[in-house]
Amino acid sequence: VSSTQTAGPLAGKIIAVSAGGTREPLDPVRYLGNRSSGRQGIALAKAALAAGATVRFIAAHMDLPAPAGVELSTASTAEQLQQAVTTAARGADVLIMSAAVADFRPAEYLDSKIKKSDDRADPVITLVRNPDILAMLIAERAAEGPAGDLPPLVVGFAAETGDADSSVLEYGAAKLARKGCEMLVVNEVGENLTFGTDKNTVTILFADGSDAVHAAGSKDEVAASVIDSVAVALRAGRA
Ligand code: CTP
Ligand code: CA
Repeated sequence: VSSTQTAGPLAGKIIAVSAGGTREPLDPVRYLGNRSSGRQGIALAKAALAAGATVRFIAAHMDLPAPAGVELSTASTAEQLQQAVTTAARGADVLIMSAAVADFRPAEYLDSKIKKSDDRADPVITLVRNPDILAMLIAERAAEGPAGDLPPLVVGFAAETGDADSSVLEYGAAKLARKGCEMLVVNEVGENLTFGTDKNTVTILFADGSDAVHAAGSKDEVAASVIDSVAVALRAGRA
């Protein structure tokens, strides 16, 4: 079910939002996954709906159901998500990539369950790189040029931890430049931060050099800030 609203800061706009985490199968009963719950993506979709947008919601695995009122598509692996995101992004005004995409997948999928056995060595899992959905979409957009229909405003999410070399924000700024997206929402993660909780502290960085926006609070409050920044960017024609 989709709804078209005529009021609100994003009335008439189409926002594609990816959410949840991908799973990369290893054998029929096992996968490599991550701890994304989908909560931030759901909050973003709700905030975009409340702002009057049409929302195309691309759900990987989530702990919760997708919100009512979105145009829903689903994906399991990173490769499936790439297909679904590219389809949903075509003709959209904005793409928000809040899904946690597995960077690697098992090099080999085994058709039958891996068994332990005493007379064979323990298995070693070899990983290969998944496509970078965001980076590839931005490259594709550039290749298509002005005649293309990929979104002019692409928002990435970066879960970062600081370390001895760089701070969370230094890593965020480098990632914004590397990915080539217009906005990056930088999110500090750790054992008890962000994943599976309802609290979040983020900094929104802009490729055009606009001042960073800080937001903290529930995932709904963070989503409202992100959607607000999206509306401001669209209005200013910055995208
Ligand atoms: N992303 C993507 N495809 C991937 C990996 C990430 O589209 N294969 C997107 C995420 O949805 C997110 C953004 O890229 O919007 C940043 O993800 P992140 O994992 O922080 O970035 P990476 O480039 O994978 O860098 P890192 O090595 O720090 O994980
Ligand atoms: Ca990654």
